[in-house]
Amino acid sequence: MERLQKIIAQSGIASRRHAEELIKSGRVKVNGTVVTELGTKVEKNQPIEVDGVRLSKEEPVYFLLYKPRGVVTTASDDKKRKTVVDLIPTDMRIYPVGRLDYDTTGVLLLTNDGTLTNLLTHPKNKIDKVYRVKVKGIAKAEQIIPLQEGVVIDGVKTAPAKVKLRKTDPSKNTSMIEITIHEGRNHQVKKMMQAVGLDVLKLTRIRFAFLTLDGLTSGNYRKLNPKEVKRLYELAQSKKHKTNKKHL
Ligand code: URA
Repeated sequence: MERLQKIIAQSGIASRRHAEELIKSGRVKVNGTVVTELGTKVEKNQPIEVDGVRLSKEEPVYFLLYKPRGVVTTASDDKKRKTVVDLIPTDMRIYPVGRLDYDTTGVLLLTNDGTLTNLLTHPKNKIDKVYRVKVKGIAKAEQIIPLQEGVVIDGVKTAPAKVKLRKTDPSKNTSMIEITIHEGRNHQVKKMMQAVGLDVLKLTRIRFAFLTLDGLTSGNYRKLNPKEVKRLYELAQSKKHKTNKKHL
């Protein structure tokens, strides 16, 4: 038995909140009878109609995209720019899990599974996100250490992060920093770098949970296999998860 609004949301026709509105406004029938009570539990195979149209439960699908630059992380864009969803040919109503900026590249998960999306994006589940950041100048210890301890962005201190100075290139006057965070604040990495006086030249997410860019080139995608999906559920549901050292 599942809650009616959850089944409607999983079918892909509406968000959870919109599904609740559909139910409250009497537009949903179960077994041919209008149901207006939120939270009504429904058997998997009971026929559900919205505005007289029978729902078909969409199979969950999971794609791992190597997001290129110059693409927006949204399902549809008002300004008609190319979106991450445009890069994956599917009839399913998929959407990105979290967000990468227009000019950020790297690992991005897309799915129609709202349950997994909520688990992976909820801050309490502390899913690791690893970024490789190219910055202008030669980064110094007094810039790296505050990033590790937490810096104040938008008035709130960031959680401690793993930060490593991977490489410096004096001839080009650039440095490469690797940073692991589990929060997902807006433009977090750029703002953290800015807080210690470093300008970001290039930002790539090289890992999300245990998912990396291995085998993918920019703009390419692949489907997750069932084992990976199971592992993501396990990881997100084990609330004690902080850093999965095995995969570093
Ligand atoms: N942090 C940023 O600043 N931008 C991203 O795209 C992701 C993390």
